[in-house]
Amino acid sequence: MAEKKYNWYKIADHINELDFAENQIAVVEVKGKKICIGRSQKVAFAFAYKCPHAGGILAHGYIDALGNVVCPLHRYKFNMQNGRNTSGEGYYLKHWPVAIRETGVFVGFEDEGSFWNIFR
Ligand code: FES
Repeated sequence: MAEKKYNWYKIADHINELDFAENQIAVVEVKGKKICIGRSQKVAFAFAYKCPHAGGILAHGYIDALGNVVCPLHRYKFNMQNGRNTSGEGYYLKHWPVAIRETGVFVGFEDEGSFWNIFR
């Protein structure tokens, strides 16, 4: 299988610069589009701003003890690391890797095409 190739976008100089709300979810913009950064056990994950079910704003949800983001609208749960709909409704959450490096915090997108497709 071919290795995934990412374009890395810097979202902050340091993880502490991100404005994690009480629910441990920050909203950042990449090229003018909002995405969420969720934090669990000191690890950060990037995922879509809106829920794949009916567009609930995931930034207004919360992260449970197992590292799932819970949508505020109908409480479906999604694993932030792999996008799986762990409450079993069969949806899939767009998600991206986060890299914390000496030079800053980066989110990786596989390619421009797949990134922009989520907004169509
Ligand atoms: S909109 Fe998120 S669970 Fe329905």
